[in-house]
Amino acid sequence: MGRIVVTGGSGKAGQFVIAELLKHGHMVLNLDLAPMDHPEVYTLKTDLADSGQVFNALSGQWSLREPFPEGLPPRPDAVVHLAGYARNMLVPDNETFRSNTQGTYNIIEAACKLGIRKIVLASSVTVYGVSFAQGDANFPSFPIHEDLDVNPTDTYAIAKLCNERIGRGFASRFNADIYSLRIGRVIEPEEYDGEIFYSYVHEPLLWKVHGWSYIDARDLGGMCEAALRTDGLGFQVFNATNDHITNLSPTREFLSKQFPHIPITRDLEEFEAPFSNAKIKSMLGFEEQHPWKKYFSKWEKKQKQMAV
Ligand SMILES: NC(=O)c1ccc[n+]([C@@H]2O[C@H](COP(=O)([O-])OP(=O)(O)OC[C@H]3O[C@@H](n4cnc5c(N)ncnc54)[C@H](O)[C@@H]3O)[C@@H](O)[C@H]2O)c1
Repeated sequence: MGRIVVTGGSGKAGQFVIAELLKHGHMVLNLDLAPMDHPEVYTLKTDLADSGQVFNALSGQWSLREPFPEGLPPRPDAVVHLAGYARNMLVPDNETFRSNTQGTYNIIEAACKLGIRKIVLASSVTVYGVSFAQGDANFPSFPIHEDLDVNPTDTYAIAKLCNERIGRGFASRFNADIYSLRIGRVIEPEEYDGEIFYSYVHEPLLWKVHGWSYIDARDLGGMCEAALRTDGLGFQVFNATNDHITNLSPTREFLSKQFPHIPITRDLEEFEAPFSNAKIKSMLGFEEQHPWKKYFSKWEKKQKQMAV
């Protein structure tokens, strides 16, 4: 059990990440601008773009008590940093860049200087440069893995890449473990029956922008937990995606038919996700709990009707 500060815990992914951390017995403090109503988790309204607030929040109390416990509050064991504008066009580009890079710099700097040696960062598969390209862009090869060169052109992804470099620098300087999760499109449980998954399955050619991959919000929590329990890896980047491609075609068949000019650089599992999660499985011991076919009831119904 650890004392884990989660930032952005009030958001879409954060609520599932927090639930998973609590399930594993961790104590959680949520730093967010937005409130979160949770009986076990205190939310301290904190603007991460303000360094003073971040240093204070990481060295402060974990809940409101009357009186507060004696002595200094114990230091957090780790930070899971999810907060930020979660895509382009929520605010103008310069504000996306300022807030997301400054917030991440502040949390990494404060955590390292306060002696916290484990930080998990929310990066994004958009750093591979296809999702928010200006026009059509292609992946250089398949599967899409962490050692590929990345050169995103949009502000959100450029900021994510800057944040990875901040993490890398501070991990070296402070001998800390900073693991950056390149998160795929986050899918909440109720989204399996919604429009997006229906389109993933039935209109797969629309979804190069998501790399025909996704991450179940609960499995993302499992990845954060795996990151917290695995020490000593220094700075690392991990694709954070589920195991399988988001349509019904075997992966090699689908990719080689649609993109015959793009090389496939190794053997692929039959339905392997094009954004490969092989590294997070082998280095952090992550095991998927929520494959999409288990939940996609429209898909199941259709399969059953076709079988009759
Ligand atoms: N949702 C996705 O599909 C997806 C995909 C890839 C990566 N990500 C990344 O994962 C993280 C979480 O995404 P999400 O979908 O839960 O986003 P979200 O917008 O639902 O939640 C983000 C949270 O961060 C908080 N926040 C924003 N700026 C802040 C600041 N300056 N100080 C304090 N809190 C602040 C917001 O109040 C919000 O509660 C983000 O970093 C996002 O870029 C998300």
